[in-house]
Amino acid sequence: MKEKLQQISDEALQSIETANESSLEQIKIKYLGKKGELTAVLRGMGALSPEERPKIGQLANEVREKIESAIAKKVQQTKSKALELKLKAEKIDVTMPGTALPAGHIHPLTSVQRELENIFIGMGFEVVEGPEVELDYYNFQALNIPENHPARDTQDTFYITDKILLRSQTSPVQVRTMEHRKPPIRIISPGRVYRSDALDSTHSPLFHQLEGLVVDKGITMGDLKGTLETFAKKMFGEDTRIRFRPHHFPFTEPSAEVDASCFVCGGKGCRLCKGEGWIEILGAGMVHPFVLSNCGIDPEEYSGFAFGLGIERITMISRGIDDIRLFYENDQRFLDQF
Ligand code: PHE
Repeated sequence: MKEKLQQISDEALQSIETANESSLEQIKIKYLGKKGELTAVLRGMGALSPEERPKIGQLANEVREKIESAIAKKVQQTKSKALELKLKAEKIDVTMPGTALPAGHIHPLTSVQRELENIFIGMGFEVVEGPEVELDYYNFQALNIPENHPARDTQDTFYITDKILLRSQTSPVQVRTMEHRKPPIRIISPGRVYRSDALDSTHSPLFHQLEGLVVDKGITMGDLKGTLETFAKKMFGEDTRIRFRPHHFPFTEPSAEVDASCFVCGGKGCRLCKGEGWIEILGAGMVHPFVLSNCGIDPEEYSGFAFGLGIERITMISRGIDDIRLFYENDQRFLDQF
């Protein structure tokens, strides 16, 4: 029996030596399994003499332990070998040049909007937003534009119901701000606006405006002029001058259209300013007392100014773009230039 055990041990250890992952399992069953060779020997132990039984039993246990640990060692070896191979196969050379991805950039309208925001933030303004789907009340009524007022014709927009529309200007944000804030108020509000205009080189049914509003005690037209002059110099260059032309907006009184001196020719007249020397940049005025009252602000105590500019217009002037449609066509040949 001793010899038999020794033989089993030798055979098992040898086959473990040359085994692979799947044959190891077979070997385990062959020697240590319920119907395995070692088990068979142990079963035959009943025939042994009482003196021999413990010796053979001990030897059998030693053989079992030897086989078990050899198998465990082999399993460990094959595992680490497999891992090594895998690592080798999947090796990445991090020093190799990567695949270059074409980098995009900010749309010219967005970058001009941010430029505008930065200029006004630098002057102490705060950026606020308002809804694009707006009530007739905020877009027109509260801004001193009652039903049947001719100003509604020039700002015809898209109606969702009789009372709900896509805002035709950012001016409703003036009202929304004044309704829930006490002066001093110093805000700008950029965003999308809509008008039912046919698309051509200077009109689009969707475009962007930036509204400005300042309300406090003792605000005068001088504050409006100073603010807009500072803005124009920052936007178009330090030599820029501005001029006010009388105009009419229902929600400001007095109202003005504001021009900047042409930053290409300095005012002599050129292609950009169409020989005028001046370029219209925005509409502005002193907040109408009716609008202040509509918002619960006493016009006897407070006054304010407001202005509104077209972001597309400012972008076209400052970047030399001659067709508004280019902004919305996503043509990379156009976008790549900015
Ligand atoms: N909302 C006006 C427009 O769209 C512009 C404006 C804003 C004029 C604020 C005066 C004051 O034409």
